[in-house]
Amino acid sequence: MTPSAPAIELRSTGRNFGTRVALQPLDLAVAPGEVFGLLGPNGSGKTTTLRILATLIRPTIGSASVLGHDVVAEAMEVRRVIGVMPEKPSLYERLTIRDNLSFWADAHAVPRVDDAIARALEFVGLGGRANERVGELSKGWRQRVSLARAIVHQPKVLLLDEPSSGLDPSAATAMERMIRELVAGGSTVLMNTHRLAEAERLCDRVAILRHGTLLELGTPRQLRNRLLGGVVRVELAAPPDTRLQHAVESLPGVAGVDWTGNGLLCRVEDAGRDTPRLVSGLVGGGAQILSVVQAGDLEEAYLELMARTETAVLEAAA
Ligand SMILES: Nc1ncnc2c1ncn2[C@@H]1O[C@H](COP(=O)(O)OP(=O)(O)OP(=O)(O)O)[C@@H](O)[C@H]1O
Ligand SMILES: [Mg+2]
Repeated sequence: MTPSAPAIELRSTGRNFGTRVALQPLDLAVAPGEVFGLLGPNGSGKTTTLRILATLIRPTIGSASVLGHDVVAEAMEVRRVIGVMPEKPSLYERLTIRDNLSFWADAHAVPRVDDAIARALEFVGLGGRANERVGELSKGWRQRVSLARAIVHQPKVLLLDEPSSGLDPSAATAMERMIRELVAGGSTVLMNTHRLAEAERLCDRVAILRHGTLLELGTPRQLRNRLLGGVVRVELAAPPDTRLQHAVESLPGVAGVDWTGNGLLCRVEDAGRDTPRLVSGLVGGGAQILSVVQAGDLEEAYLELMARTETAVLEAAA
C-alpha cells in the first residue's frame, strides 16, 4: 500500500436484501487520518455500508477494502485492523466490563491483555469500574464499554455506528472528545450519525445518503455553500452610506447584497473564504460591525437537501 492509498475504499459497493436495495453502488475513499461521516435518514444504508466494511455482511455488487485488504477475500486481515462500535452494543450483559474486554482481546490475540484492557478502560473513563457487570450499566456507560472494546486491540481504522446515540449532552460531548483523541493518535474514523452539529464539528468530510443513494459528498463547508449558497448576515451600528454599499458590492467573492436598514444579507461564493474579506471591506469603509453570522449550518443544509429530494420524488411520481 502506498502512503497516499485510501484507508477505506468502496468501489461501486452495493447491497440488496432480497428484492430490497439497501445500498446502491457507492464509490467512496476515506484518507488515512480522516474523520468521515455518513449521514442520512433512517433506512438510508449507513449501517449497511458500515457492516460491509466490518466484514459482517458481503456486498452483493462491487468490492471494498480497508487498509488495502479486501473485505471478502481478506476478511481476517480486515478484522485485525478495524475497531467496530455497532449500532447496538453487542456486549455480554452478565459478564463484567473486564471479562467482556478480555473475551474480545483474546479473540484478537492481544499481547499483554491486562495492560491493554487497563489502557482502554482508562481511556474511556472506566478505569475504576472494571468489575461491574455490563447489564447493570446505564446506556452512556455501555457506550463507553463498547468504545473500549472497539479500541482494545489498538486498531488503525474505527467504524462507529452512531457512537453518541441516546447519550445526554455531556456524555455525547465526552464521546466526541474521545473520538477526537483517537484521531489525534492517528486513527481513521468512519462514523454514522444523526447528530449534525457533531458531524459538523468532528468530520473532515461527510456523505449524505437517502434510499441507499449518495446525494452529496464533501466537507461540511462545501455542503453548506452548495446547498445554502453561503449567506452571511451582518449587523452594523449605523446605516451604510452609498459609498460603503458600492465598496462592498464590488468586493471579490460577493455575489449579491440585500441592504436591510442597519445591516446586510450578503451572498458570497465561499463563506469561509469570503467572510473575512467582507468584514475587512466593511471596516475599511468606516463601518462599525455589531455582529457577523454565517447563515445556515450543516443541519440546515441537510434539511434543505431533504426538502429538495422530497420535491424531486413527488415530481417524479406526478
Ligand atoms: N438484514 C436485513 N434484512 C433485510 N433488510 C435489511 C437488513 N438490514 C437492513 N435492511 C434494510 O436496508 C435498508 C438500509 O438499512 P440501514 O440499516 O443500512 O439504514 P441506516 O441508514 O443505518 O438507518 P438508521 O438511521 O435507522 O440506522 C433499510 O431499508 C433496511 O430495512
Ligand atoms: Mg443504522
